Amino acid sequence: MARISAGVATSHVPAIGAALDLGKSGEPYWRSVFAGYEFSKAWIAKNRPDVVILVYNDHASAFSLEIIPTFAIGCAAEFAPTDEGWGPRPVPPVIGHPELAWHIAQSTILDEFDMTIINAMTVDHGLTVPLSLMFGQPQAWPCPVIPLAVNVVQYPPPTGHRCYMLGQALRRAVESFDQDLNVVVFGTGGMSHQLQGPRAGLINAKFDNDFLDGMVNDPVRLSKIPHLDYMREAGSEGIELVMWLIMRGALDAQVRQAHRFYHVPASNTAVGHLILENAR
Ligand code: DHB
Ligand code: FE
Repeated sequence: MARISAGVATSHVPAIGAALDLGKSGEPYWRSVFAGYEFSKAWIAKNRPDVVILVYNDHASAFSLEIIPTFAIGCAAEFAPTDEGWGPRPVPPVIGHPELAWHIAQSTILDEFDMTIINAMTVDHGLTVPLSLMFGQPQAWPCPVIPLAVNVVQYPPPTGHRCYMLGQALRRAVESFDQDLNVVVFGTGGMSHQLQGPRAGLINAKFDNDFLDGMVNDPVRLSKIPHLDYMREAGSEGIELVMWLIMRGALDAQVRQAHRFYHVPASNTAVGHLILENAR
C-alpha cells in the first residue's frame, strides 16, 4: 500500500528560482532565504520520497483565461518547465507517475471531486521553485512528481474547506494504491503577498504566523477562513494559502512539526515553510 509520510509547505516566489539559476544564492539578501531550507534538503535526502504530489498553481503559463480548471491532476509522463517573467527555468524536466496519477484521478472523481485530467502540460515556478528549494540543483529530479494544479488566479478559487476535504480524498486515493510507495505531499504558494494595486507589497507577519500555528495544531480552524479574510489580511495573492490546506488534509489530525521557517521578504512575498510528519 502507498502511504503519505509527510507534508511540505513552502512559498514558491519566482525570484528565488531566478536567484538560484543566475548564481545569486550566496548574496546576503538571498542567503537568509536559502538558510531556511538547509534542514529541509537534508531531511528530504534522508526521508527519500518515492513520489511527490505537488499542489501548486499555474500563473497563466500553461493555462490561460481560455480554460481554467479548479483542480487538475497531471497524468503525463513528463512536464517541461515553462514560465512568465524570467522565462523557462534551466531545470530538469519533471518526470510524472502516470499510474498513480490516473489512480488518484479515478479515486478522487469517484469520491465526488471533479478533478480535471491533464495529459499534456508545462509547469511554471509554482511547481519548479519548491522542487529547487527542497532538492537543490540536481541533474535530474530524484523522484517522480505528480502536479496537482489549483486555480487561485481567477475568481472564484475553491474554498479552503474544499481544499482541506480534497486533501482527505487525496489520502484515501494514495492509500488505495497497491504499490508500496512513500509519498510526500507539497502544498505551495503564499504566504501574505499582494503584487498589484494600491496595497502592492502588503505583508502581514501576524496573520502568517497564526496560519503556521494553525497548520500544525488546528487545520480545521484554518479551513473555515473565508476568501475575504485572506484578501484583507494576506493580500490578493495570499489566497494561494488555500493550497496548503490540501497538503494538510492529506495528513493525520495530529502531526509532528519537523521544521518551521518564516522570513520577510523574498521579492514581494513573505516566505513560509513547514515540514509536517505523520506518526509512523
Ligand atoms: C511573486 C510571488 C509569487 O507567488 C508569484 O507567483 C509571483 C511573484 C513575488 O513575490 O514577486
Ligand atoms: Fe504565486
